[in-house]
Amino acid sequence: MTEPTEPNTGAPGTPGPAAPSTDPEALRERALAALLTARDRTALLTGCVDGPELTAQHSPLMSPLVWDLAHIGNQEEQWLLRTVGGHEAMRPEIDGLYDAFEHPRSERPRLPLLPPEEARRYAAEVRGRALDVLAGSVFGGTRLTEAGFAFGMIAQHEQQHDETMLVTHQLRSGPPALSAPDPEPVGPFTGPAEVLVPGGPFTMGTSTEPWALDNERPAHRREVAPFLIDTVPVTNARYTAFVEDNGYGDPRWWAPEGWEHVRRHGITAPLFWRREGGQWLRRRFGVTEPVPPDEPVVHVSWYEADAWARWAGRRLPTEAEWEKAARHDPATGRSRRHPWGDADPGPRHANLGQRHLRPAPAGSYPAGASPLGVRQLIGDVWEWTSSDFAPYPGFRVFPYREYSQVFFGPEYKVLRGGSFAVDPVACRGTFRNWDYPVRRQIFSGFRTARSAEDV
Ligand code: AVJ
Ligand code: FE
Repeated sequence: MTEPTEPNTGAPGTPGPAAPSTDPEALRERALAALLTARDRTALLTGCVDGPELTAQHSPLMSPLVWDLAHIGNQEEQWLLRTVGGHEAMRPEIDGLYDAFEHPRSERPRLPLLPPEEARRYAAEVRGRALDVLAGSVFGGTRLTEAGFAFGMIAQHEQQHDETMLVTHQLRSGPPALSAPDPEPVGPFTGPAEVLVPGGPFTMGTSTEPWALDNERPAHRREVAPFLIDTVPVTNARYTAFVEDNGYGDPRWWAPEGWEHVRRHGITAPLFWRREGGQWLRRRFGVTEPVPPDEPVVHVSWYEADAWARWAGRRLPTEAEWEKAARHDPATGRSRRHPWGDADPGPRHANLGQRHLRPAPAGSYPAGASPLGVRQLIGDVWEWTSSDFAPYPGFRVFPYREYSQVFFGPEYKVLRGGSFAVDPVACRGTFRNWDYPVRRQIFSGFRTARSAEDV
């Protein structure tokens, strides 16, 4: 039996640093930097609107921003102060308010939440103590502190909520509160429309990435039949062709539940789009603008992605296909951390970290391409896959059931690759996201595939 193998050094020809160092001091620096980066973003997202906007419910799908803020602090307190640091609870009475399972998002505005100033103070106080715990803790000894995992997990948790808060910003009405430079323009993508990924086994998941979350583990071999996958995500121009071909009016393209859903809710285009004066406009962070044709489509549900693919005579990739396209290096037979190799994501590789508040045009970031030439797998838009969210063989809950375990099952579909809104610390070739197939307020898009036997 072949042991799954994963690279821990840069693949040949891959410039830049290799996988994260296992040196505890390097990991401590990395954890510190990740926590600080996350907090800067949290401060920006919660500092650019006033108190009433922080406590308001901008959408029943989302928490008030002030809930995210104190929840970030509370998770950090629970894991870094109480569990790793052995501290007493600072405010045990608030734990229930910030437990995502006790109160659905729609109820949160009516809870006796900490007001904005108090929430800020609480999160800052927790952070001050957490940095002391970080400075004084021994990495290793327990699974939670091995390679600084708990610190990496909490930095990722905050970044995940920073993405969630950006979704709330996108849903809020009123004048823009955020701005960022646009990605570099590129000409229309003229490369091959699809790439053949040869059949055979590859290593899926990871057992070596220090801060990979439980659902990404362990590394295991997967057999994948040969398939073709889109070189770039499906663009607004290609998506619009479906809209204008009466795609939303033709049940042939839709999964039955998807058809029922779009009928019942009168859905006829991606979320935030509207037709005016003979053109498609969209609202993006408070600005209405023409839909840019060359940008990956964003704010589509799994049902819309699935229907588009059927209309185009294609299908969504499975999760294993997506990961093989992203990580498998046919020259070495190994799986990389990222499409471009093992180096951490940089601005040449991918549109991540809310550096831009939109996806980059299709064909951007040639330096981020996979060995087979697939582009923009990481960053820009989360990509729907056809797969249900399920544990890998050998999965073990770590460190808590409510991160992944309670979500495994057919109600959730897997998204891969990360969006422009997610930070590099919470995004890698093995990272798995999931959501209900009706969801589209998230920064979701897709690319399509077809089986090579169909060629
Ligand atoms: C992995 C993005 C689905 O936001 O529901 C945040 C991440 N888990 N707090 C979510 C998460 C606990 C999670 N997703
Ligand atoms: Fe959370």
